[in-house]
Parts: sequence; structure tokens; C-alpha cells
Amino acid sequence: MAKEMKRIMVTGAVGQIGSELTMALRDKYGSENVLATGHRTQPSPTLRDSGPFEFINVTKKETIDEVVKKYNIDTIYHMSAILSAVGEKNPKLAWDVNMNGTYNILEIALEYDMTRIFIPSSIAAFGPETPLDNTPQETILRPKTMYGVTKVAGELLCDYYVKRFDLDIRGCRYPGIISYETLPGGGTTDYAVAIYFEAVKNKKYTCFVREDTRLPMMYMPDCLKASIDLMEADFSQLKHYSDFNLTAMSFSAGELAAEIKKHIPEFTCTYEPDFRQAIADSWPNSIDDSAAREEWGWEPSYDLAAMTEDMLRVLTQRHAEGKLNY
Ligand code: SER
Repeated sequence: MAKEMKRIMVTGAVGQIGSELTMALRDKYGSENVLATGHRTQPSPTLRDSGPFEFINVTKKETIDEVVKKYNIDTIYHMSAILSAVGEKNPKLAWDVNMNGTYNILEIALEYDMTRIFIPSSIAAFGPETPLDNTPQETILRPKTMYGVTKVAGELLCDYYVKRFDLDIRGCRYPGIISYETLPGGGTTDYAVAIYFEAVKNKKYTCFVREDTRLPMMYMPDCLKASIDLMEADFSQLKHYSDFNLTAMSFSAGELAAEIKKHIPEFTCTYEPDFRQAIADSWPNSIDDSAAREEWGWEPSYDLAAMTEDMLRVLTQRHAEGKLNY
């Protein structure tokens, strides 16, 4: 009989995914049962006022220990990470936060005999030698970014703790995540978020990757659904644990701009690739996520058209109310 998830902690809860995931988990499991944790950045009033919040530093194990004890935590969503672009500017920091942070979370899981742990990976686990189209579940993992290196090592480490210590650890390879609530913190797929904000605000955007750059992407509601459904899945039915391929859609930067133009005809997009182009070029165009579909019933709801309609509806309304925080 699987143990119950009663007291959940989210690390990186002030980040792009963590902030919305915390709210979704509070809705589902009760606000007082979901501890949001962050590192330095102040939480939004919504996050702060809807349930418990603490500051920790995932690279300092004793700071995690303290809150795990205080709140009697049995489940962790480990969302804190340094993303690909920031990681290339500061590889040492990326290694420290992503690797030592993950190691500390796994050790804590072991010490406290935790019920379940979620540690996401990313399309950054792939590299230029990986088949770029419909990238298979089992494939070549030779990333060229420090972020990718830590994600592959993280996947392997998670699976090691599952086999060696019988822990329940799950995770998926997120594609680029698009959302309107919290901006992403320095990834390569950030253009696919920024373009919407700029389109609404200024009717133009200068994109830092080429027009023909095609990457796998997902809208936040699908990302939340995937993260919660994978954790709710029957562990005994899983053949994979922490490295599920996951996707909802794939589009080029040019196709994204064209979709926005359908709603905002005066919108123009220009392209000035920078160092992030090489990172984007090393990642897949599209992903085969059939293992996730078969093993835990993954199915996305949003395609490019539906996502664009929703993003622009919300951002346009916020802009009209003077509340577009960008
Ligand atoms: N969105 C991430 C990044 O661009 C990929 O996981 O770094």
C-alpha cells in the first residue's frame, strides 16, 4: 500500500513553475499542508498569504533539515534550479544549486523515510548527438550545457536512490514552459514567454533565437497537470521514474510570432540570435512522450492556438488594468 502524501514542501516556490505549482497543490491538498520555500526572493502576496512560507538554501542541508522537521514534511517537489542561460554565465553556481541541492534533497528523503519526491529534469538533458525529431525516451544524453549536465546526473542519481534505497522518486523532462504569472529565471526558452508580454505591451519583440528555431513547449496548466498526475500515479505501474519525456507542442519562433499576429495584426518580431542560439540548436525539435502516455496516462490539453488565445486574453486584460508586471 503506497504511503499518503500529507505534508508537502515545494522548493523553488517563488520561481516560474514553483509559484503556480504551490497554489495548485494548496488547492488540492489543503493550504496548511503545502509549505512553500524560496531562497532570498520575496514571495508574491498570493503565495505568502495563502499558506506557510520559509526561506531555505538547498545547498545548505541544515536549512532544509530545519523546515522538514518543523513542518513534518513527507513529500517534496524539488523545483529550485539554475536554468540553462544563467548556468552558462555561472557554471559553478549551476553545479552547486542543481547538483548539491538535489543530492541534499535525496539524502533528506532517505533520512526521513519520505513518502514521495518529485525532481524534474528537462529537454536540456539532450544534446546535439541526440536524434532531434521525435526524440525517443531512451536515447543519447550528451548535453553541452552545465544545466544539462546537472539534469542528466540528477536523473541518474534519482534512479540510483530508487533502486538502491527503495525510495519513491519521480520526475519528467520538462519542455519549455510558457506562463503569465511568474517570469522564468534565465532559461533558453524564455523568448516564448517574453514574446507574449512584449506583443501586448509594445506590439514588437526582438527574439534572441532565429526564426526557424523549433523547440518542444508546454502551457503552464498542462505542466501543473503533468507534475501532479505523475506524483499521483501508481508507482508499481511505472517502468521509468525520474526521466519521462514530456511534451505538448512544438513550434518555431516564427510560427509563434505568426500565431500572435493573428490576434495582434500590428505585431512585428525581429530576430537577433545571441549565445542562447547554440543552446537551443543542441536541443530537440520535438519529443516522443509515449512512455509518459502509456505508464501514467499523460495527455496535454493545450496546443499553440489554444495557449496563445489564453495567454493574450489574460495579458491584455492585465495590461488594460495597469497590472502587467514585466
Ligand atoms: N526552460 C529551460 C531552459 O530554457 C529548459 O528546461 O533553460
